[in-house]
Amino acid sequence: MPARDTKEFKRCVVPAFRNLYVHFPYCETKCHYCDFFSLPEPKTAPNDRARVYDAILRERSLIKLEALETVFLGGGTPSLVPLKVMAALMRTLPLTPSTEVTMEANPSSVTLERAREWRRMGVNRISLGTQALEDARLKWLGRVHNTAGIHAALDALIKGGFENVNIDYILGAPGQAVAQIRAELTQTLRRHPDVCHVSAYLLTLKSSNSKFNELPPEEAQLEHLRTARETLLGLGFEHYEISNFARPGRRALHNENYWLGGSYAGIGPGAHSFRGASLGTPRRAKNWASLSKYCEEIDQGRAPREWEEDLSSEQERIEYLMLHLRRAEGVNPQDYARRFGKDLLSERGNWIEILEKKGLCSFSPGDERSAARLRLTADGFFLSDQVIEKFL
Ligand SMILES: C[S@@+](CC[C@H](N)C(=O)[O-])C[C@H]1O[C@@H](n2cnc3c(N)ncnc32)[C@H](O)[C@@H]1O
Ligand code: SF4
Repeated sequence: MPARDTKEFKRCVVPAFRNLYVHFPYCETKCHYCDFFSLPEPKTAPNDRARVYDAILRERSLIKLEALETVFLGGGTPSLVPLKVMAALMRTLPLTPSTEVTMEANPSSVTLERAREWRRMGVNRISLGTQALEDARLKWLGRVHNTAGIHAALDALIKGGFENVNIDYILGAPGQAVAQIRAELTQTLRRHPDVCHVSAYLLTLKSSNSKFNELPPEEAQLEHLRTARETLLGLGFEHYEISNFARPGRRALHNENYWLGGSYAGIGPGAHSFRGASLGTPRRAKNWASLSKYCEEIDQGRAPREWEEDLSSEQERIEYLMLHLRRAEGVNPQDYARRFGKDLLSERGNWIEILEKKGLCSFSPGDERSAARLRLTADGFFLSDQVIEKFL
């Protein structure tokens, strides 16, 4: 879809957003499994990077923000961004004492000094990409850090003042034994009790990836997911979303807003934005995932949009189900009926019965069936792609 002109762009961004995503596109190296828009920094020129950072700051000035509830500094590897650039961006943000400000960090670019600086500028939550907690698997994944680097980074973050730390952990890698998953998570979370959130992702590789054939079979992957869940529940975490576990009161607020269909502004190359129904016709947009195109559009005073579109009510309905079913709370059929004028239980009754019998979905206990929430069970979460489509 063609990019819109500035006038149109301004009209689209008039509402003030309270949730912000910022995409920083550079990494130390490009990991073979990763599809996020990012480039290896050593292959880029300092001047080009300066131009991109400047464009991000200029795009920020086009967006109306107020009393931010959440900020997510993502990438790429935001922990690589020069502190001056990050501080300049942070100074422009209308933060409140309760704004959740998350930054993604790679263990190799965390130091105590940097952790203190990030805290000083207002970052209060770190999502650390550990990916594996064992050296051989880190090597297979092509990561530049080892386990000693992970522990050093976690120590630095905690000492630097972070009380809200997530670790990203990849499941379903070849040779990853369930006993290892149990031991790695238990030892790491006991050693760093301040880690209060874990995102556990099942490794997905394109069939064109040269390592695709090394992936374990689906049944082994399911065992990985079950083991991670049991281990984390045993350590006091709640499984509140397909891939996410939190200690009580420590859910990721930025992602919760996303799953609940809330609005968010996205800036930076490749960033997505969403304006939910409460701000007008639901509309989503994506920025150019090309650094030259992104910078050119900003230089010309145009919105750096690769495309944007209004959601039809049918798209809105499907998105509502897909996102709500990701959460442990699932869907409230009465809320669904109010919004979309449809009766989920009668329209999808046959499938609900089949999936309930297979133990893949259930109704919240204690409520009248007509008022109960419909949600996926743990096994339903693990097979979510196949299960959710039956409700659409
Ligand atoms: C945007 S990445 C950035 C994190 C940070 N740059 C890092 O690598 O440590 C967010 C997370 O997505 C996950 N991820 C990326 N590609 C994946 C894949 N192919 N399969 C499963 N998880 C993936 C990783 O756990 C990663 O930490
Ligand atoms: S460092 Fe993170 S964002 Fe960058 S390529 Fe690797 S997984 Fe992707």
